[in-house]
Amino acid sequence: MILALHTQPGAIARRCCIWSPPTVAVCAAALLTGCSGRQSSLEPAGAQAEQISKLFWWMTGGAVVIWIAVLVLAFVAIRFQPARGENAGGWLIVVGGAVIPTVILTGLLAYGLSLLPGLVAPPPAGSLKISVAGEQWWWRVRYPERGGRTVELANEIRIPVNEPVEFELSSSNVIHAFWVPSLAGKRDMIPGRVTRLTITPTRTGSFRGVCAEYCGASHALMAFEVVVMERDEFDRWWDGQARDATEPTTELAVRGRALFEGNGCGACHSIRGTSADGVIGPDLTHVGSRLTIAAGILTNSIETTQRWISHPNQIKPGALMLAFHMLPEAQIDALAHYLQGLK
Ligand code: CUA
Repeated sequence: MILALHTQPGAIARRCCIWSPPTVAVCAAALLTGCSGRQSSLEPAGAQAEQISKLFWWMTGGAVVIWIAVLVLAFVAIRFQPARGENAGGWLIVVGGAVIPTVILTGLLAYGLSLLPGLVAPPPAGSLKISVAGEQWWWRVRYPERGGRTVELANEIRIPVNEPVEFELSSSNVIHAFWVPSLAGKRDMIPGRVTRLTITPTRTGSFRGVCAEYCGASHALMAFEVVVMERDEFDRWWDGQARDATEPTTELAVRGRALFEGNGCGACHSIRGTSADGVIGPDLTHVGSRLTIAAGILTNSIETTQRWISHPNQIKPGALMLAFHMLPEAQIDALAHYLQGLK
């Protein structure tokens, strides 16, 4: 580019005019909006994500310093060196090519390594432990027993704010990776092993988690919600999740439950308090209370539940969930009403 400017400044200037300051400002603003939101490492809401964000900005600063130093030295070399002879620029190569990068990169390496112990340290004894297993393509979430009852749910994790939580991550099929960019770094979920990740959320809110390791056809359709709540609100939610499923209250929902039992849905799904005790698919005991269905890709409503029951493979290619489009619409409707009532 610099050499080209020497030879054809007019042509280059014309080509560059599309990058006028207003255009650059608009493009930069559009790009920077992608840096915020509930799935961004650059807008941290957790102690671990804050460390990672700081490291990112220090590394960006280091890269900018190296870039500017190299540009300045290149300019000096082009502008002044020819008059002093071809071999007079040895010091430029040593300073710009070796000394500056070595000093800056060594500093960044030392800083990055100094953050590691804090990022991999286990939480204090007695901290909440939540197991998450990667499935194809959803997340099985297990809380410790509450009132003598196991709490299992899917694709949604709720945790108290300002308390470290340890996640025990596993997979029984292929490698997945658990990643909530706003809260912490990512961790692989490896068949036959349990990996651990500590998250300390620093503010309440709802954050999006994703699978960060290619795991098959619907890898990109494997998301989840992490809701950070105040401690008392979290306790109330946890108590609710530990209870058995509520009884259907409308005639339509009662019919839906009969259809759920009659069509063998309980072979794959559990609904605590009923005869459905399958373990292949997600536990549906409180499915109506979840923010999303189908692992973070559909909002939770009667309409999306009907679509999911009828054509799961159109929504999530390769999903193990069987399609029930052969059922009359009225029956699908009754099933959806029953499931939505499971708050
Ligand atoms: Cu699971 Cu990608």
